[in-house]
Amino acid sequence: MTATSPLTPAWLPAPDDVDALDPAIWAAGVARTDAGELAVQGVPASALAAEFGTPLIVLDEDDFRARARAFREGFDTAFASLCGGADVYFAGKSMLTLSTARWAAEEGLRVDTASGGELAIALRAGVDPAHIGLHGNNKSEAELLAALDAGVGRIIVDSVDELEHLAALAAEHGHIAPVMLRLTPGVHAHTHDFIATAHEDQKFGLSLAPSAQDADGNVAGRAPAAVAVALALASESVHLLGVHCHIGSQIFEADGFGLAAARVLEFLDHARAEHGVELAELDLGGGHGIAYTAADEPRPAAEIAAALADDVQKTVERLGMDCPRISLEPGRAISGPAGLTLYTVGVTKTVDVDAPGGGTAPRRYVAVDGGMSDNPRPVLYDADYTAALASRTSEAEPVLSRVVGKHCESGDILVRDVHLPADVRRGDLLAVPATGAYTHVMASNYNALTRPAVVAVRGGSARVIVRRETMDDLFAREADPAPGRPADQTPTPQESA
Ligand code: LLP
Repeated sequence: MTATSPLTPAWLPAPDDVDALDPAIWAAGVARTDAGELAVQGVPASALAAEFGTPLIVLDEDDFRARARAFREGFDTAFASLCGGADVYFAGKSMLTLSTARWAAEEGLRVDTASGGELAIALRAGVDPAHIGLHGNNKSEAELLAALDAGVGRIIVDSVDELEHLAALAAEHGHIAPVMLRLTPGVHAHTHDFIATAHEDQKFGLSLAPSAQDADGNVAGRAPAAVAVALALASESVHLLGVHCHIGSQIFEADGFGLAAARVLEFLDHARAEHGVELAELDLGGGHGIAYTAADEPRPAAEIAAALADDVQKTVERLGMDCPRISLEPGRAISGPAGLTLYTVGVTKTVDVDAPGGGTAPRRYVAVDGGMSDNPRPVLYDADYTAALASRTSEAEPVLSRVVGKHCESGDILVRDVHLPADVRRGDLLAVPATGAYTHVMASNYNALTRPAVVAVRGGSARVIVRRETMDDLFAREADPAPGRPADQTPTPQESA
């Protein structure tokens, strides 16, 4: 039942060494101690689990910072001669806490937010408002006003409807709204459908294709993007900075970014011809892929930057235009690889399942103390992860295993296929790498599980940056503080202490 199991997916290689921690997947500070334990910057998994409990999201702070720097330096260098460098916005949605926002700012990044809540976090973290962008396809009036009042550097406007609304709101409140227009250049990224966002039939952005009808701010025969540029330039309460596009997430191919850039630059060229203005800024969004398993092969930030700069240079030369200031919004590629999740193993069991070629094959289930509430990505996107025995090494034979959570749901899978030692058992610690992005921020309280703590490791010591939820937190929003008890019998602080 090792690598020869007929249930093994084609992409999953037989492990040479089941204890090995592939540096392409794990954070830079992760290694085994002499005793064989997985450690983050020398802090052993058992010490982290003993001090902070499991499930636990552990961020290698230095790794996060190094990836942030690599994007900033890589893009600054690649675009230096073209447009004087590039501005890198950390896509907060991937992992936004006060600490991570500060780390990004300290490394010279700006912060991209996607809601009033994210904006509030970035502001409270002390990020310079001029270095914050606000996104969203349906921002509320309160969110738009909060951004205007805070003086954010850019509001990324998603539709003609929103542009009209924002212009009126800014005028009413005596602001000039700094606007980037989000365009959909019609590039379909090769990724999971749910997270590909630059094709036409979707909710985001202003189409570059002429509209067939007059509806919702569209003008028949005109591209919504062109309508928005004309409107923004004509509005006294809008300062049109430039345009934006984001083609999807977890993308490895360089071509998609280059093609989207070319289409958007062509659009800017037309806008220049029509209005006689050169828009100063072009944001190419995020979406740079990371390694979740050995099957993924991401490229270093400097390489991505060099390839993109090459594409952009060719396009601006072809069009005979000045290169606008380039910005980008990587999220996952900065926060994802810096994180891992530690779990404690509970139940293990092996079942016989139908094998693809006929007959049956054993499948080993390893259940841990978290699940789809701390990482919904496998369930939502069929995302693959890997895992390793963290509290020790093992001489036992590797067996194809499925790591599952503890939720009342059979789809509650964390790692669909991974080779783990056959003797993994109750009490062992398992680590799942590349969980720094879109886990903490997407976590839920399903089945009333309390959400994990987030711990940062730096300089060989670990500290809590977001505390674990408690049972009390589960009741914090209930209108009746002690359901089932008369209000006057609510426990006193002494009683509940
Ligand atoms: N900029 C914009 C406008 C975006 O919409 C996104 C992601 C990013 C930047 C950052 O993308 P990244 O570099 O992190 O791929 N929950 C999904 C991902 C949704 C991404 C939405 N937008 C997941 O877990 O895969």
